[in-house]
Amino acid sequence: GAQPLVHRPRLERAVLAHRGLPSRAPENTMASFLAAADAGATWIETDVDLLGDGTAVLIHDTALDRTTDRSGSIYALEAADLATIDAGSWFDPRFAGERLPLLDTFIDLLSERGLHANIELKPNEQGAARSLLLVDTVARALDALDPACQVLVSSFSQPLLMAFHERHPRYATAVLYEAGTIRPDWLSVAELCGATCIHPQDEGLSEEMVALARGAGYGVNVWTVNSAQRAAELFEWGCTGVFTDVADELLALEGPQ
Ligand code: G3P
Ligand code: CA
Repeated sequence: GAQPLVHRPRLERAVLAHRGLPSRAPENTMASFLAAADAGATWIETDVDLLGDGTAVLIHDTALDRTTDRSGSIYALEAADLATIDAGSWFDPRFAGERLPLLDTFIDLLSERGLHANIELKPNEQGAARSLLLVDTVARALDALDPACQVLVSSFSQPLLMAFHERHPRYATAVLYEAGTIRPDWLSVAELCGATCIHPQDEGLSEEMVALARGAGYGVNVWTVNSAQRAAELFEWGCTGVFTDVADELLALEGPQ
């Protein structure tokens, strides 16, 4: 039978800290998540994928090059390698020694600080079996989360999200859409994925599309919104949240959540 959602997210004019606070700290590191929390963010967005040995880590790219001192694929790594990779110096020498965080370490931070999270499943490029391992590994990690914390699991990959929903229906999901990929059947796709929220790109989004999704009962959280003026407009349209690289700036205007 259908399992009830254990974490039904309740977002209202939510400011979701995209990869933490990447304007002030290296994206997707513990330093970045802590900076976002210290700035008052209650929702944090991050990206998850698996190393070659199946360890779940938080990184946006499948290559190490952009956000670490190393190059090459994350799929060539195992857990023991993480202690040798610097994910902070590229941003600023002050962050030397920051690591690619383990998903489990992030889950512990959420529980300790009472934070909510949007965890994006990166389309694993290593085939169907790896994708299922990713889905199951993330769900198992989430099972350790304090039930007071809310969580949304999102993906651009509809097959991946459908697999997650089918295997772990207790967690809320959200469908990510790049600009131009919203088709007439977008809400039926969201229904197949068991989604509670739609995550469209800001570019090309209209008030009518937001109204349609809200009318059908979906939350609408828009990425990536770095202008306070645009965030205010989207909230006026009925959007439930915005992903932003400048959570500190948007929260300063919004006041306490
Ligand atoms: O979840 C919103 C946003 O993070 C999706 O795009 O490329 O930043 O992961 P990207
Ligand atoms: Ca993301």
